[in-house]
Amino acid sequence: MNALITGASKGIGRAIAKAFANEGCDLVLVSRTLRDLAVVKQEIKLLQPSITIHILAADVSTQAGIKTLMTFIRTLKIDIDILVNNAGVFLPGEIKNSAVGNLEKMMDTNFFSAYYLTRELLPHLLTKKSGAIFNICSIASLDSYPNGSDYCISKFALYGFSKCLRQELKESGIKVISVLPGATWTDSWKGVDLPNERLMQADDIGIMMAASLKLSPSAVVEDIILRPQLGDL
Ligand SMILES: NC(=O)c1ccc[n+]([C@@H]2O[C@H](COP(=O)([O-])OP(=O)(O)OC[C@H]3O[C@@H](n4cnc5c(N)ncnc54)[C@H](OP(=O)(O)O)[C@@H]3O)[C@@H](O)[C@H]2O)c1
Repeated sequence: MNALITGASKGIGRAIAKAFANEGCDLVLVSRTLRDLAVVKQEIKLLQPSITIHILAADVSTQAGIKTLMTFIRTLKIDIDILVNNAGVFLPGEIKNSAVGNLEKMMDTNFFSAYYLTRELLPHLLTKKSGAIFNICSIASLDSYPNGSDYCISKFALYGFSKCLRQELKESGIKVISVLPGATWTDSWKGVDLPNERLMQADDIGIMMAASLKLSPSAVVEDIILRPQLGDL
């Protein structure tokens, strides 16, 4: 199976890539920074030498980036079985004071990237009548929280998209899985002074997602909600 993962060079995306490689998936890894992707590729190759890994620098928040990615996939002549819409960005701010452009940036990166990339890949997945689409939403898709309004708006949109897609694809054989993690140690939390055990590990997310791939074709995990054992921050 081939898995395409956006935002795979760091954090949760990197952990998902490792977990899927453990299950024997070949990988197409995308982010904007090729050297970071090359490091991840090397790490996974050391653990799983038989896995094929392709890497591409592309900005999936833009139509041009999505076009570049689709051209890359066609050039590779591979069938994508699993899409993971993970690329995301967090910018703090409230509706009353957030910088102009912040909402647009987060909508483009956190929501429109998933919407347009999924639309590009769907005709292929529909022909195959199988596969899985994971959308990395957030606890912030369920509730708002202080100083996170624009982020929450983008993540509510992504979860709404994911639910609509699940409804549309019920009869298609394609599984749609919304992943809603709480606070997870990644670069997004750089500089935050909290004990290690207060947040989840990125590997926790990858492990649960890989487990959901083991179900029979007649079952789907619709929502994966993960929180730190000590609860939300
Ligand atoms: N960490 C948490 O607590 C948490 C909780 C819930 C949900 N999430 C969600 O999980 C996802 C991953 O978050 P993370 O914490 O792992 O973030 P991260 O460590 O900052 O990693 C983000 C990844 O996305 C890539 N990326 C960002 N913008 C991109 C773009 N326009 N095009 C292509 N790639 C792009 C980054 O690489 P480049 O910068 O090189 O492009 C990087 O690989 C996000 O959707 C986030 O909202 C995170």
